[in-house]
Amino acid sequence: MVVGASFPCSYLKEAIPLMTKTLILLFHPDLANSKANAALAAAAAKLPSVEVLDMQVIYPDGIDLSKDGEREALRLLESDRIVLQFPIQWYSTPPLLKAWQDAVLTRMFYIAYESEGRMFEGTPFMVAATAGNIPDAYRSGGRNMFTMNALLAPLQATAHRCGLPWAEPFVLYQADKLSAEALDAAAFEYAAILKRWIAGSKALWVKEPELRGAAQ
Ligand SMILES: Cc1cc2nc3c(=O)[nH]c(=O)nc-3n(C[C@H](O)[C@H](O)[C@H](O)COP(=O)(O)O)c2cc1C
Repeated sequence: MVVGASFPCSYLKEAIPLMTKTLILLFHPDLANSKANAALAAAAAKLPSVEVLDMQVIYPDGIDLSKDGEREALRLLESDRIVLQFPIQWYSTPPLLKAWQDAVLTRMFYIAYESEGRMFEGTPFMVAATAGNIPDAYRSGGRNMFTMNALLAPLQATAHRCGLPWAEPFVLYQADKLSAEALDAAAFEYAAILKRWIAGSKALWVKEPELRGAAQ
């Protein structure tokens, strides 16, 4: 990886902090009344260099490509890893998450590909979803007819289209029925999975400052 022409690599590795930023975009229609997503988000937010954003609070009236697209694209470009966290609603994502895809990813990959989409490619990407039903409902031929992976396929296709390495999704079942202890355990597991993911992918890479600068 090209870091800079005039300095030896070891110097730059010392000069550039190896701490990288993980951005969790949380799409819950009403986080104040959430148990599961609120608990997961609170555990994740305690990890170093992890930021959680409540997108519903930022965009209570929806998100718009021309008004909000640039701000959200920059947010992505300034991050080293992206998590989309949300409750499953009607076998799909909450409407604001779909609106975010339409506004932000359309801008980055169809309108400003050279300066934004191309720069975003390669950013590791994870989905963290909560579901009310039991795991057994989400099997082929089960009560919900499809596996969770099948229902998440549109997001996986999006990641593929945008060149974002896809991580195994974190899925919490029976999310609205868990005891306080079970919820604590799930939040602990979520934080542990995030930590492993962060440590295992780009965490030890030195970022290319020229490329990031060009994206802004
Ligand atoms: C409008 C709506 C639709 C839902 N659809 C589904 C669904 O398709 N499958 C499912 O397993 N749970 C469904 N649920 C349950 C939620 O996924 C569950 O309540 C949520 O993940 C719990 O997380 P929270 O405590 O953060 O709100 C739905 C809930 C609502 C309000």
